[in-house]
Amino acid sequence: MSNFAYERLHSNLHNLKLDTIDNIVDNYLEIAAKDGKSILEVLDYLIDQERRTKENTARERKMRLAMFPVHKRLEDFDLDFQPSVDRAVISDLASLRFVHTAANVVFLGPPGVGKSHLAIAMGIEAVNAGFKVYFVNAGALVEGLKNANMKGILEKKLKALGKYDVLIVDEMGYLPLDREGAHCFFQLISRRYEKSSMIFTSNKSYGEWGDIFHDHVVAAAILDRILHHCTTVNIKGESYRLKERKKFGLTTMEK
Ligand SMILES: Nc1ncnc2c1ncn2[C@@H]1O[C@H](COP(=O)(O)OP(=O)(O)OP(=O)(O)O)[C@@H](O)[C@H]1O
Ligand SMILES: [Mg+2]
Repeated sequence: MSNFAYERLHSNLHNLKLDTIDNIVDNYLEIAAKDGKSILEVLDYLIDQERRTKENTARERKMRLAMFPVHKRLEDFDLDFQPSVDRAVISDLASLRFVHTAANVVFLGPPGVGKSHLAIAMGIEAVNAGFKVYFVNAGALVEGLKNANMKGILEKKLKALGKYDVLIVDEMGYLPLDREGAHCFFQLISRRYEKSSMIFTSNKSYGEWGDIFHDHVVAAAILDRILHHCTTVNIKGESYRLKERKKFGLTTMEK
């Protein structure tokens, strides 16, 4: 390759931010010449490597932006331990059909049964598929909305949350909301309704959600929108934390 072509190639690759090709092209051209690769094969290989790195970088970025508190994968969830969880429902959720149809998912159940685990696991599946996901605790979310409302920037905040394909709201109902909190939450739900998905976890049954929002009329309006297109996974089982404590107790007794 002439010096001019060589320098212009690297300069163009750099300017076009094709950094992977920029890094591997020299070595690869040597190998390709030895192996007698065609120009088509060389182009295909280089461009495919660039695409892979770009996709990985974007995925890692989305994973960071999702703010998962811990990394919980679907394959680490022991379905045998929780027979009330229907495998067919979980595999349907894992297909992410609910994200494509802007439907919601609610994981209900007592403490420790894996609600947050499954919510995070679905979020990770969605990030891996290229979707934008954001995980937030319900209390923190509502505080953020109320703060924005107070500063007159609720609209901006709702718009910012609107860029996520999946919004995961963990621990609904652990703390009751006041009137303003419920109002802001309603704004969020009605904004996302039939446009983008939400995943909730809660230890309160739907019947008890009225108490979360203080106002039963707002609670009904919120639930009506959430449940219109929704899969509810009602987990009725023993706490996995308890199981692990029992296991630990047994092993220490055996010593
Ligand atoms: N079936 C399961 N298989 C493997 N790990 C599980 C299972 N269920 C729960 N766990 C693990 O047990 C711990 C508690 O689960 P998780 O935090 O999801 O419970 P939770 O239902 O959200 O409880 P809480 O209502 O207290 O928030 C986590 O470390 C989680 O990964
Ligand atoms: Mg939880």
